[in-house]
Parts: sequence; structure tokens; C-alpha cells
Amino acid sequence: MRIDIITVVPDILKSPFEASILKRAIEKDHVELHLHNLRDYVTDNYKQIDDYQFGGGAGMVMMVEPIDKCISGLKSEREYDEVIYMTPDGERLHQKLANKISLFDNIIILCGHYKGVDQRVRDHFITKEISIGDYVLSGGELGAAVLCDAVIRLIPGVLGNETSALTDSFQDNLLAPPVYTRPADYNGWQVPEILTSGNFPKIEEWREEQAYLRTRNLRPDLLDEDEK
Ligand code: ADE
Repeated sequence: MRIDIITVVPDILKSPFEASILKRAIEKDHVELHLHNLRDYVTDNYKQIDDYQFGGGAGMVMMVEPIDKCISGLKSEREYDEVIYMTPDGERLHQKLANKISLFDNIIILCGHYKGVDQRVRDHFITKEISIGDYVLSGGELGAAVLCDAVIRLIPGVLGNETSALTDSFQDNLLAPPVYTRPADYNGWQVPEILTSGNFPKIEEWREEQAYLRTRNLRPDLLDEDEK
């Protein structure tokens, strides 16, 4: 998968990809990441990428031209499955959306700043708007990093154990069951006996039940009416 991220602050997006799973995904060529500094697409000497709003009002707006140059240049080289704009106005990111995006070959992610981008960018280039939650960040970069993390870990081969992404919280509509590791007894705090029994069908049954109970207690909104 190729991901092109367009931003005015590429530095924010460096460290998330320089460690752990995302770093390995890039090293193993599961992902090709390209960061584009919007200022490189500006022709005037001041490197201006934003301007005042027509009609007045506080806050600057990102101009069409540099974004057009960047996106049109990319699109002339290859087909993109989606041109995503990170914004609090967008569809709230959820696991099914991450699953869908993880199947794409090429995506562009545009990070907004200030008051956001000129509406004409949204009208003519953007095919999907995504929010990572109902709060306002100072820019779309951290949202883009969250989206990339959620998507990249789902690409086959990225996680060591292929099944582990499938048993995450939210892969079905349930939270993940509790997990334990050694020692089985820590100062009297015991691991549930069933997990050390070796009875794997029973362990699976226990996990399913725990996942359901945890979801009912913590996130009943995830359950269908007839599951409550
Ligand atoms: N940019 C600013 N706030 C955002 C949010 N909540 N999600 C995605 N992008 C954003």
C-alpha cells in the first residue's frame, strides 16, 4: 500500500513511523509512505499556503493552488482509491472503515490546518472526510497518524501473528476479553483457572463470554438490541 500524506508540518508525522510496528511495516515494504510538505508546492517567494477568509472572520484558510499542484501531480502518476481529508467534520473513524481502507493500494491523506482548506479543495479533490473524534485538534497530522496506524496494522503480514488483528476489540462488535501472562500467581493475584487448564474449547467459550460481559458493562452501545 502506498500512502501520500500532504501536510504543512511534516515533522509531526515523522516519529510515529520511526518505531515499532509502523517502522517495520515500511522496512518490509508492506507500506510505502511519502510525506509532502505543502510549502514545496508554492510558487511565490513568501511560501504562502494560507490567506484571509473571503467575507471576513478570524482564522486563515489553506489556499487551493498548492494543494491542487500536489494532488494533481500525484494523480497524474497513479490511480488513487481515496483522497482523504482529516477534519472534525468527517465520518468518525471506526474499525470497519479502517478495515476497508487497509484493502486499498494507494491513498492520499490531506491534513488541514488553521480554519481548514478552501471549500473548493473539498468539492473537487476529496473523496472521503475522516475525523478521529468529536474534538478539535490543531491540525490533521495526529489524526492522519492515528488513521495510518489503525490501517497499516491490518495489512496482511504487518503483525507477526496474523490472527492477532482479527481478535482485537471491535473486529466483531465486542471488546476484547481480558488477557493474562506469567506468573499465574502474583502475590496471591490469581489468573482465572480456566486459562491454565489446557482445555482450549472451554477457554474459547470463556473468552467469548468475557468479551460479551465486558462489552455489556463498558460499551453497551456496541451491542445490537437483541444482544443486550
Ligand atoms: N483536524 C482537527 N481536528 C480533527 C479531528 N478531530 N479529526 C481529524 N482531523 C482533525
